[in-house]
Formats: sequence, structure tokens, C-alpha cells
Amino acid sequence: MEAEESVGLVGAGRMALAIATGILAAGNVKPEQIIASAPSDNNLCKFKEMGMRTTHDNGSVVKNCTVLFLAVKPHLLTNVLVNICPLVTPAHLVVSVAAGVTIDTLESLLPQGCRVLRMMPNLPCTVLQGASVFCRGTHATTSDADLLKGLVSACGLCEETPESYIDIHTGVYLFAEALIDGAVKMGMPYELSKKLVAHTLLGAGKMMLDSGEHPAKLKSDVCTPGGTTVHGLYQLEKGNLRSTVMDAVGAATDHAREVGKRLQPHQGLGQR
Ligand SMILES: NC(=O)c1ccc[n+]([C@@H]2O[C@H](COP(=O)([O-])OP(=O)(O)OC[C@H]3O[C@@H](n4cnc5c(N)ncnc54)[C@H](OP(=O)(O)O)[C@@H]3O)[C@@H](O)[C@H]2O)c1
Repeated sequence: MEAEESVGLVGAGRMALAIATGILAAGNVKPEQIIASAPSDNNLCKFKEMGMRTTHDNGSVVKNCTVLFLAVKPHLLTNVLVNICPLVTPAHLVVSVAAGVTIDTLESLLPQGCRVLRMMPNLPCTVLQGASVFCRGTHATTSDADLLKGLVSACGLCEETPESYIDIHTGVYLFAEALIDGAVKMGMPYELSKKLVAHTLLGAGKMMLDSGEHPAKLKSDVCTPGGTTVHGLYQLEKGNLRSTVMDAVGAATDHAREVGKRLQPHQGLGQR
């Protein structure tokens, strides 16, 4: 990253903090080169404690950064963009993390020719184990994509994809909770169960990455004929776990796309 680049975050909630934490961990940007805004001090205080600059004025963020992250809730983004649009210049690279808000919508609310990236990160960026995808807008270049990747390189995996993949994002906490509750039901203390489940998930993910094997192969490797694992698997199949999970990914994706459609700019708001 160029020394004169600076980072702005409009919105200072959980996702903004996760991204800022990752950016600082990458080490190319100093805390004082990051500025974040929010209406209240509720979340800004965490940024302040980490040495970053804060403000209640979104315009001040735009004026003091070259890479601008938009990290407010999707339903607030249109108004935020209408207000900051006049301050956005060709020097800005705009990165939106708002779920469901499409490149089309972002570009229609930003100045003509604006370089836009749409990113879908997740909260494990906070612990530098995130999994993020992003896509490029019409005017964003390879070096813009490289700039984002460099900035968030410490956040975890960050892959460029077509925009149609961005809404396909899911989580695993419900599975973790169910595994913990199952062990607790059978008599294991909660804290031990939680620790074992978290490490099991970490280990399984690492096995998938390091071995390059399909999970079906890894699963069959641990299924002793007539053993405990296959008895558990039988219950999962009876409960339609696989089709339920596939439906859940579909439902989450459809919802994100619906949100995006509801946020299509109204006539008049989309002036460039
Ligand atoms: N959380 C996730 O796992 C996740 C994952 C991927 C993408 N995202 C996306 O990230 C975005 C933020 O989500 P979040 O979970 O970080 O939400 P959050 O924790 O509720 O944070 C929202 C932030 O926006 C601030 N805000 C509200 N109105 C504002 C305005 N007019 N101008 C500037 N800032 C304003 C809030 O201010 P206060 O601090 O004063 O309340 C807060 O700091 C959303 O678009 C979401 O779709 C989230």
C-alpha cells in the first residue's frame, strides 16, 4: 500500500471493527491513518482505544481517506451515499460490505466512473481467520482489487468472485451450538464441550484445506463399519440434514438478493 493511502470507515460496528483489526494486523497502515464514523460513541470508543481517529461526521471520513469502507446497515446505505456522494472524488476506492446491496445500486448512487468494490466479509476477520469474497464494479481495476487484498491480507481468506456469488454466504454457529448441546445432553460439562466443538471445527477445516480431500472422503475415512460415527450419520440422514442445510443456504442467498432489490435506487436518488 502506498504510504499516502488512508482508510475510512463509515459505520463503526462489528464488521467495521473486524476489518480495521485485520488492516492493522497486516501492518501496512498505522492506526492514525484510519478514521471511522458513527452517530454515537457506543462503538467509536473501541476505535479510539486502538489509536484510530473517530468522528460523528461521515463527510469528514470521506475527506480524510482514499480507501472508503461503507459499513452501515443495508437499509441506511442509500441515505448515507446520497449525503456523501458530492465528496467522493476519483481518488477514492469505495468498498461496500453491505449485505445484498449490488454494484448497480452502489454505482448509481456514487459519482460517474467511481471505482467500487463489493465485499462480503465475516466476523472471524476479527480473529484473523475470516473468509471474504469480493467483486469489482465497472470501473475498478486489477490494482484496486490488489489494493483491497493487500489491505485485508491479515483478515484471512479473501477471494475475488463474480458478483452472483457474493450473496451466497453462510455460517456455522447453529451447528456448533447443536453439537455442544448434544454433548451437554449426554453429560459433558458445557465449557469442555464448547472447547472441544470449537477445536473440532478448526481441525476439520484445516484437514479439508491441507489434505485437499472432498469432505465426503474425510467423512468415510472416519466411519468404522458398524461404529459410532455411522450410527450418528444415520440420524443426520433421517433428519435430512444435507437437504436442510442446502435449503438454508438457498434461503439466506434469496433473502440477501431480496434486500438488494428493495434497495434499488428510487428515481431521482440515482443521479450520478
Ligand atoms: N456482522 C456481520 O457478520 C456482517 C457480515 C458481512 C457483512 N456485514 C455488513 O456490514 C454492515 C454493518 O454490519 P454490522 O454487523 O457491523 O452492524 P452494526 O454492528 O450494527 O454496526 C452498524 C454501524 O453503523 C453505524 N451507523 C448507523 N447509522 C449510521 C449513519 N447514518 N452513518 C454512519 N454510521 C452509521 C452504527 O452507529 P452506532 O455505533 O452509533 O450504533 C454502527 O457503528 C451491514 O451492511 C452488514 O450487512 C455484516
